[in-house]
Amino acid sequence: MILAPTPENIERTAAHLREGGIAAIPTETVYGLAANALDSAACAQVFASKERPTFDPLIVHLAAQQDTSPFETLRKSGLIAWSFFSTDAIQTIEALAHRFWPGPLTLVLPKTEAVPDLVTAGLPSVAVRFPSHPVAQALLRATDRPLAAPSANRFGRISPTQAEHVFEELGDRVEWILDGGPCEVGLESTVLQVQTNGELTLLRPGKVSAEEIVLVAGRSVRAGTARLDAGPQVAPGMLASHYAPRKPLFILPLPVANLSEGHISAIQKHPGKIGLLALSGNTARLEEELSRRLDGRPVRALSLSENGDLAKAAQNLFAVMRELDRDPELSFLVSEPAPEGSGLAHAIRDRLGRAGKAL
Ligand code: TXA
Ligand code: MG
Repeated sequence: MILAPTPENIERTAAHLREGGIAAIPTETVYGLAANALDSAACAQVFASKERPTFDPLIVHLAAQQDTSPFETLRKSGLIAWSFFSTDAIQTIEALAHRFWPGPLTLVLPKTEAVPDLVTAGLPSVAVRFPSHPVAQALLRATDRPLAAPSANRFGRISPTQAEHVFEELGDRVEWILDGGPCEVGLESTVLQVQTNGELTLLRPGKVSAEEIVLVAGRSVRAGTARLDAGPQVAPGMLASHYAPRKPLFILPLPVANLSEGHISAIQKHPGKIGLLALSGNTARLEEELSRRLDGRPVRALSLSENGDLAKAAQNLFAVMRELDRDPELSFLVSEPAPEGSGLAHAIRDRLGRAGKAL
């Protein structure tokens, strides 16, 4: 059932979560599938509904309080093992919290025993963030519990950025879906690990860029290394294949206008109507252009933004992937190459790279 985010529905959902239920909730990044983070049995339902392997840890979401900063709230939460940190490291966390919370930054920090092992996949650290979406915040305050919430899709599939997408992914596995409208950011939060000595590692790129983090933290940020295989891992969730459509997706080395004859014949090897995911531009013109290069092959194009606006492109990426994937007329998908740059550009590159493979 998709619920409008009325005060009554928020209260009902909060009561359901307190009683050990699960519910899909909007955040500014993507929709999450939430459970009381302190209740292992409730979190187990989240893993089961998503068919998520238990080696992939969950992100814990916290409520921003009226008169207390997110940093202070986290300090008093009982979730983080502060005594392990150097003074420097704590100052770094405080600076990041002040600048980016509530918002799309997740910090991975050493946990206390209060956090169930299931939530962190047995790791000694827990991922935490304060989401900025007003419905998420209202629900967190009403629930009065930290909420563990991974993206509300089946494991390995495209993250949902609208309430309807959650229903498409999980159907009646989730009874309640709180509708907060389309997600503003459209890509999952930046995940940053803070070591006890203050060293920073970027585990997942998102809207908050490494450059912004360096500026605020006054220290460098290391890149996390992606793992190619599943199984127990140092940086979990960095699975090479993720966010994947069901149809094959090939990433073009160049924009449609610049494809060489070699690229064209590589596309021609695959039969059927083509779905084109374009970064920018006019869809009718893109369809016409690619179809002409392919001797009249039918093409359906969807553009992430008419004028190449990066924020719009990020917002639309998963919805457009989903739309092309569910079009029964399309046999396979091709995508223009991801943009250069950090922050949202890096995040789009990362998600596209995991969703498809090079042509
Ligand atoms: O924007 C988001 O972060 C969304 C919304 C719902 O908040 N959530 C989300 O969760 O994307 P999920 O489960 O799809 O991704 C969680 C990822 C893990 O796959 C892993 O990469 C990282 O967060 N993570 C969580 N706990 C970790 C830990 N203890 N150590 C390292 N990475 C961790
Ligand atoms: Mg996910």
